Amino acid sequence: MDLYRCVVTKRDLRTFTGQAIEPGLLRRILDAGRRSGSARNRQPWQFVAVTDREVLQRLARCGRFAGHLASAPAAVVILVEEQGQLFDAGRCAQSMMLAAWSMEIASCPVTLHHDAETRAALGMPEGPVVATAIALGYPDPRGRGRLERLALRVVAGRGRKPLADLVHWNRYGRRLV
Ligand SMILES: Cc1cc2nc3c(=O)[nH]c(=O)nc-3n(C[C@H](O)[C@H](O)[C@H](O)COP(=O)(O)O)c2cc1C
Repeated sequence: MDLYRCVVTKRDLRTFTGQAIEPGLLRRILDAGRRSGSARNRQPWQFVAVTDREVLQRLARCGRFAGHLASAPAAVVILVEEQGQLFDAGRCAQSMMLAAWSMEIASCPVTLHHDAETRAALGMPEGPVVATAIALGYPDPRGRGRLERLALRVVAGRGRKPLADLVHWNRYGRRLV
């Protein structure tokens, strides 16, 4: 897939087929995260790659909108050293999701709101901060599932704001025409 097309067609999908992600492909996705830039090149991240169904099911209970982790063939949980590094984690997450999409593997970020439960599910020590999880899987050819359509009718249905509403030209308030 052409890179620009990959970037602009990436949508967050939560309904997956049961097909496992081949370990070599999962490794390539993780490597795309590893190669991301970070402030002062500190590379403050660690990744927990999860394919164990029991752990995925536990993680699915660790966020308010995390249910789709239970049926994803894989997830990556991104950890950073401190809260101030969440931008770095975001770069890493997008790199991994775009790398996945270039291999036709869909993804969706998942916020893990329940920190203690997340740490217990992953057997994590106190130190690292849980930035986000990414659910990964092959998109169901039938499209978004019933639950996803209901829950996300509003947010995903918004599409994207037009560029003209977002861009200021040289000075704030000078709109793109
Ligand atoms: C920081 C962040 C946290 C998110 N957390 C969740 C989440 O917990 N559960 C979920 O289903 N989607 C989550 N999403 C996905 C958003 O709902 C999604 O990006 C948005 O609806 C756009 O979806 P679209 O690509 O289908 O248009 C998150 C996205 C971001 C950027």
